[in-house]
Amino acid sequence: MLLEGQSVNEKNHLTIGGCDSVELCEKYGTPLYVIDEDVVRGHCRLYKGAIDKCYDGKGLIFFASKALCVKAVVKMVQSEGLGVDVVSGGELYTALAAGMEPEKICMHGNNKTDDEIDYAVKSGVGRIVVDNVPELEKIDKAAAKYGVKQKILFRIKPGIDAHTHNFIMTGQIDSKFGFALETGEAEDAVLKVLEYENLVVGGVHCHVGSQIFESEPFKEAAKVLIDFIANIKEKSGYEMAELNLGGGYGVTYTEKDDPIRFDKYIEEVSVVVKAVCEEKGVALPFIMMEPGRSIVGTAGVTLYTVGAVKEIPNIRKYVSVDGGMCDNPRYILYQSEYTALAANKAGDEKTEKVTIAGKCCESGDLVGENMALQSVEAGDIIAVLTTGAYNYSMASNYNRVCRAAMVAVKNGESRLIVKRESYEDLVRNDI
Ligand code: LLP
Repeated sequence: MLLEGQSVNEKNHLTIGGCDSVELCEKYGTPLYVIDEDVVRGHCRLYKGAIDKCYDGKGLIFFASKALCVKAVVKMVQSEGLGVDVVSGGELYTALAAGMEPEKICMHGNNKTDDEIDYAVKSGVGRIVVDNVPELEKIDKAAAKYGVKQKILFRIKPGIDAHTHNFIMTGQIDSKFGFALETGEAEDAVLKVLEYENLVVGGVHCHVGSQIFESEPFKEAAKVLIDFIANIKEKSGYEMAELNLGGGYGVTYTEKDDPIRFDKYIEEVSVVVKAVCEEKGVALPFIMMEPGRSIVGTAGVTLYTVGAVKEIPNIRKYVSVDGGMCDNPRYILYQSEYTALAANKAGDEKTEKVTIAGKCCESGDLVGENMALQSVEAGDIIAVLTTGAYNYSMASNYNRVCRAAMVAVKNGESRLIVKRESYEDLVRNDI
């Protein structure tokens, strides 16, 4: 299985964005994250095109930067006309440093610190998504301090059970995120905030989960939120004009995954949104979405060098690589499945089933088990696909492993976008 932008050249090497992956390793070293810029841009255009087609352009796509928060990527999505969703002071700082317009930044967080709230309001972020009651007071105060009217959205738990991993499921009632509907908590908060002087209620937000392949949870969530908008309108006369449907569209990690195109999901959801608005007598809201994984996931490939191959007769074969949980903690966290191939023998048949192991002092540090792979030996290059989202952004320095470098590739050219960490970097904050 190869993904968009990938092929095999005459040397039998994997190419990504027209670049020979083995040459990339020679030039930049391993482990190496490779991001195909055209794939990222193509995904941005699919989303933006869908907003134009389904909602007459009345909407905005925010890239959920938690998936891959680096300046070069923020610049790519910005130049495609997207905004960014940030969830911490650090992500906000990165977005601003990349030159993102503050009004196209949406600030999240289920426990924003006072400093983060101050920083967001001071920077002029377009929207803050409020998660809980104490935050309202704090945002109102910060807005007064800077003499602004801060637009807010309410994060609502729509009570939807999307079929995904427990840890990345967020829309159900038992979740740390947002206001509950059934207890009246959400309604009380919205009605209360209409009295705050420095806050402007933009609308509502929900995020049902991540790596979702069905459109049903998104449709259900949209219905619940529009119903809530209608309910508030009836109770207060105030009609909230914005609806943020979060992120969560699934992508291909292995052949088992079969996502439909994102613009098709959006089209299907838009039919429901329009019908429910009509039925409930509310105007079609300004639509927002926050895709992360589906913008950058399949655009990323991680390249490793094989250090050793260890056969344990009748048990398994370990192929050890020079990365692992430090650059991709998704296997140890969620037992996530990936597709791997030998980048320097890319066209050969995959004749083996192996466990690809990382280099950390931790038995669970695996890239995956039972992975189909070509026969490999020390010195070969392994490519793991679909590592653009939640790999670098969740990377760590466990065992004082230096974080890997990242390059962007496009039309056969490569450029370094994140430097490889050095040993000096590792001790920079040690006193
Ligand atoms: N909006 C909100 C409020 C979110 O919480 C998230 C993801 C997104 C948007 C973007 O969702 P996406 O389109 O990327 O599915 N570390 C996990 C994923 C955690 C997702 C958290 N929130 C993983 O590696 O699978």
